[in-house]
Parts: sequence; structure tokens; C-alpha cells
Amino acid sequence: MADAVQTQPNPNAAFTPRVFSGIQPSGGLTLGNYLGAIRRFVEKQEQGIETLYCMVDLHAITVWQDPQALRHNTREVAAGFMAAGLDPQKSILFNQSQVPEHAQLGWVFNCVARMGWMSRMTQWKDKAGKNAENASLGLFAYPSLMAADILIYHATQVPVGEDQKQHLELTRDIAAKFNHDYGVDFFPITEPVIEGAATRVMSLRDGSKKMSKSDPSDLSRINMTDSADDIAKKIRKAKTDPEALPSELKGLDGRPEARNLVNIYAALANTTAEAVLRETGGKQFSEFKPMLIDLAVAELGPISNEMSRLMNDPAEIDRLLGAGARTARDIAAPILDRTYEIVGMIRS
Ligand code: TRP
Repeated sequence: MADAVQTQPNPNAAFTPRVFSGIQPSGGLTLGNYLGAIRRFVEKQEQGIETLYCMVDLHAITVWQDPQALRHNTREVAAGFMAAGLDPQKSILFNQSQVPEHAQLGWVFNCVARMGWMSRMTQWKDKAGKNAENASLGLFAYPSLMAADILIYHATQVPVGEDQKQHLELTRDIAAKFNHDYGVDFFPITEPVIEGAATRVMSLRDGSKKMSKSDPSDLSRINMTDSADDIAKKIRKAKTDPEALPSELKGLDGRPEARNLVNIYAALANTTAEAVLRETGGKQFSEFKPMLIDLAVAELGPISNEMSRLMNDPAEIDRLLGAGARTARDIAAPILDRTYEIVGMIRS
């Protein structure tokens, strides 16, 4: 995306470029996942860089998941990835638990990361809330497993949303402390590729909240599996304000719902919010919403059809995930082996 913020390049030129990212299969996929993450995953794949995309099922169970639902959601995320253009011949697509090296390196990182670092993570504080005593130990260690996901492949680039920035900084801290503690230059300092504000999709009911698969109201989100009718209904019911659309960006200040719909339109049309307003400024939402519906249905309709086609054959999805996991293990196993050697484990 034009407004993706790139930080300084990876200082470790010795590491070949490799992209890793993950999505939790703790629910269905939303328009937010699609515009903010999956579409960018496809772009990276098309740039010819080696790309690994993972359904992080071990992360999902840091909060209890119904086992049937977890299996279903893992397949659905895989189907969403493929329907959106990720090609198992070009990208390595797999579920985390089939590559045991993630959890194995995660343990080593649990011994590198400090309690203090983990307790400062805002996602931990938000999710554990006031009831931290009752949160799982896995939820506390979540970021350390995430660092392992990335570093078990020596990944150099990680496309994520703004909300994951702190976890990526922690990943850099863990890599640096490991390298320092063992006097090696083994783990790369990964580069976060953070999505820009324009691709951050907010709730259709409350423009100040991120669109989320866990929001109790289904009207707050567009799911990648929604039918054309569902999409139309949700956009029609989306919260707005009584004003017409402004013709300049600053006219959206203090109008989070209006801004969100304009941003969604711009992202779907592969253009900028400024360009959308230049074209639609002065229109009422009664006129703008049908335009947005047409655009959303045209883009998501074929994806949702393809997802249901793929979901009709779960065995084929499982087969593809198994093959992806084997390819991933070929990269991960030697890196784990070398890590164990560095820390002093006997390898015999
Ligand atoms: N924590 C990420 C999220 O909730 C998911 C995730 C797990 C991830 N491991 C990762 C993202 C590694 C990028 C790289 O969005």
C-alpha cells in the first residue's frame, strides 16, 4: 500500500529476504484481515520473495477454543488465503502446530525474554485485563512464541497491523539478547512492515474500534464468507452521520464512521481517500453507500464463492497444509538444531 510505513532496512545483509506472517484461526476472516493483511501477503508473494504464511493455532489456544470450531476456522483461514490469491506453489501455507520447531524455539525464547518485558505488552494487559491471575500462562508467553514463529525461519520482513508493532519490537529485543548472551550473530533483527492507517478497517458500528471477528455484533463487520446480500445489508446499516461527504480529507476529522467508509472504498478501489473525496465530495451517504456496496460485492463475491468451493473439500485443504508444513520444517529444523547447539544441548 502507498502508505505502508517501512522502518530502516534490515542491518543484517547476510540474511536472505524472507517474509513471514501469521493469522490466528480464532474466528472467521473479516474485510479487515483481507485489506489490512491478506492482500498485502499476496503482493509480497508476487514480488518473488520467499513467503511463509501461517495459521497460528498454538496462539489461538492461549484463550480456550472449541476444538471443532478451531479446526473449522483453521481450514477457513487457509481457504481465505487461497481464495484471495495465495498460491501454495508460490507461498508456504501451513498451520503452526504441524511445525513443532515453533514451540521448541518458543521455549528457548521463554528463557531469553524477561518477565518485565512481557508484562509491559499492551495486548497482554488488554486481554488479561484485571483478571491476570486467571489468564493462561500461554497468554503471557504469547509474544515469545510469536518471536519464535518469525525467527525459526530467520524471517527478515513481517507484514502486520499497527497493533502488532510492540510484539515485533519485542521480537527484535529477543533476537538481540539471544545474540548478545551467546556471543553470536545468529538471529536477524526483523523489519516490521506496518500497515498504514488507511488500510486499518474499523467497526461498521463504531468507527473508533477495530473491525474484529470477536465483536458480538455481526453487523459490525464484513466477513470474507458473507454473501452479496449480507454485504449490502451491513453497509446499508453501517453507522454514519447526517452530513454529506466532504471534498477534502480534513473534512473527515471527528467523523470516524465516515472516514472508515471512505477508507474502505479507497482500499477496495486501490486508490487514496483524497482521490475518493475528490470524486464523491458533496454526495450523501444514501448515494455513496450503494457505490461502496457495488465495489465490495465485486471484490469479495468471487473470493467468498471460491472459499465455499474450497471448504467443500476439507481433506484437500488438510493435504495442502500438511505439504506446506513439511516445506516449512525443511527450513525450520536446521535453524532449531543450530540454536540448540549454540545454547549447549547435546545433539547425538
Ligand atoms: N499476533 C498476531 C496477531 O494477532 C498473529 C501472529 C502470531 C503473528 N505469530 C505471528 C503475526 C508472527 C506475524 C508474525 O495478529
